[in-house]
Amino acid sequence: MKHKSKTVKVGRNNPCPCGSGRKYKKCCYGKDHGEQENLKAVYARKYGIRLKNAEDVEAIRRAGRLAIETLDLVEAHLRPGMITDEINTLVHEFTLSRGATPAPLNYRGFPKSVCVSVNEVICHGIPGERVLNPGDIVNVDVTPILNGYYADANKTFFIGEPGPEARKIVAVARQCLKSGMQMVKPGNTTGDIGWAIQCHAEGQGCSVVREFVGHGVGFDFHEPPQIFHYGRRGEGVVLVPGMVFTIEPMINLGRRHLTVLDDNWTAVTRDGSLSAQFEQTVLVTEDGMQSLTPFD
Ligand code: MF3
Ligand code: CO
Ligand code: CO
Repeated sequence: MKHKSKTVKVGRNNPCPCGSGRKYKKCCYGKDHGEQENLKAVYARKYGIRLKNAEDVEAIRRAGRLAIETLDLVEAHLRPGMITDEINTLVHEFTLSRGATPAPLNYRGFPKSVCVSVNEVICHGIPGERVLNPGDIVNVDVTPILNGYYADANKTFFIGEPGPEARKIVAVARQCLKSGMQMVKPGNTTGDIGWAIQCHAEGQGCSVVREFVGHGVGFDFHEPPQIFHYGRRGEGVVLVPGMVFTIEPMINLGRRHLTVLDDNWTAVTRDGSLSAQFEQTVLVTEDGMQSLTPFD
């Protein structure tokens, strides 16, 4: 199904998303810093969402640049025959060399510095002895903490020449992230993002994993709000400038259901089908969005 990307704007005469009960134009719409402070307080109280100021954004952007450099470094080293723990070593040492810390290490007991998820692994793969073979797809998910700020990004790479199924699931997952990002602008909602992603995935005969979501990020690894990768238009939280969150759809070639392995981390497709994912950290701006971890 092809979706239309018409914007559902909060009209200037509609109630302000800050919940003041006043018209948007009389309240937080395009107002000076003093009035934006009101929105900040209301989003914190209502949703636990911590809006970012210009300084915060620049710091997250620096962490984001490091995240992308790390993914580029990994990509340059990928080759058939390597084990996933070699990716962990690369990410760990590069992150430290840049004065940053890998957020995954010891996060809720996660034992490594990066998630590496091969083929039927949906996410949270623990680097180890698994060998990368020609035709595999491998997702690498990095989250550096730089000067106390977090940025979160991942990409799925091919090992050698991909077969048609690998090509398809990676193309669909990449487009799902793009379609979600295109919905990010003030006045749209978190539900609009999920809706666009689900439309694209299911329209291609693929499925959206529901157990994991995108999330606010920047001051901490996982902050409110949750960003669902499925849903209906208009659901969820109204997007306002200063929100920073990830979009990270996990898309399966087969059915959406998952199993978590005995290590309590590794999520795999129940039907054994391929799964792919792309993730960026995005900022809601006055008139749209900006990626703080940009890639194509
Ligand atoms: N980076 C993952 C995310 O996108 C979270 C990984 S948690 C870990 O949210 F503990 F597995 F690292
Ligand atoms: Co994330
Ligand atoms: Co991530």
